[in-house]
Amino acid sequence: MSLIRKRVEVPEERLMIRKAEPRDAKKIIECMQSVMDERIYFVSEYYLYTERGEQERLRNPDDLTLVAAIGDKIPGVLTLQRGVYKKNRHTANLGIAVMNGYRHQGIGSDLIREALRWSDQNGIKKVNLEVFSTNVNAIEAYRKIGFIQEGARKSQFIINGEYVDDILMTYWIDPKLS
Ligand SMILES: CC(C)(COP(=O)(O)OP(=O)(O)OC[C@H]1O[C@@H](n2cnc3c(N)ncnc32)[C@H](O)[C@@H]1OP(=O)(O)O)[C@@H](O)C(=O)NCCC(=O)NCCS
Repeated sequence: MSLIRKRVEVPEERLMIRKAEPRDAKKIIECMQSVMDERIYFVSEYYLYTERGEQERLRNPDDLTLVAAIGDKIPGVLTLQRGVYKKNRHTANLGIAVMNGYRHQGIGSDLIREALRWSDQNGIKKVNLEVFSTNVNAIEAYRKIGFIQEGARKSQFIINGEYVDDILMTYWIDPKLS
């Protein structure tokens, strides 16, 4: 499977979607933290791994981390964490962050499509994610790719003083199971 594709042309550099390597750890943390600093997209406001911890995480063959690289910059990161038990190994949870200034150029969709391809090739049958009901751009991006809403947990979060629902979305790699 080739993980190298190009999509967005930026001056003299091109976007590459590839599997993360341990040497990417610092830039992955910076990308994740910069999106967490916006405080409206993720529950956690701090990326919990140190650089060494992140390098260890990247060595776990059960999980996939993809990066969107433009030259030596990493403006996009996707993580896919497979269920760790026999009962849920056919599922994976997806998380994604594209840095402000790089959004709405196809980077997120490219990352997700690559993750869905990997899931298919690795025996995963359904890919799950959770998204705040206020994150309409992300919900629309997921729908366009083929995610459907499987459920919602009402008023699960409080963001800037407002109650926000937790929207549970799924992409069926194997639609027969849906
Ligand atoms: C959600 C996110 C991953 C989408 O990635 P992206 O690279 O911005 O999305 P794409 O360029 O592939 O666009 C896909 C669709 O998303 C929607 N979208 C993304 N950014 C948008 C924006 N700024 N305004 C309006 N729609 C937007 C559009 O429907 C778009 O489809 P279109 O190009 O046909 O209009 C990215 O915006 C992001 O990381 N946002 C902040 C963090 C976040 O929300 N993470 C997910 C938490 S669950």
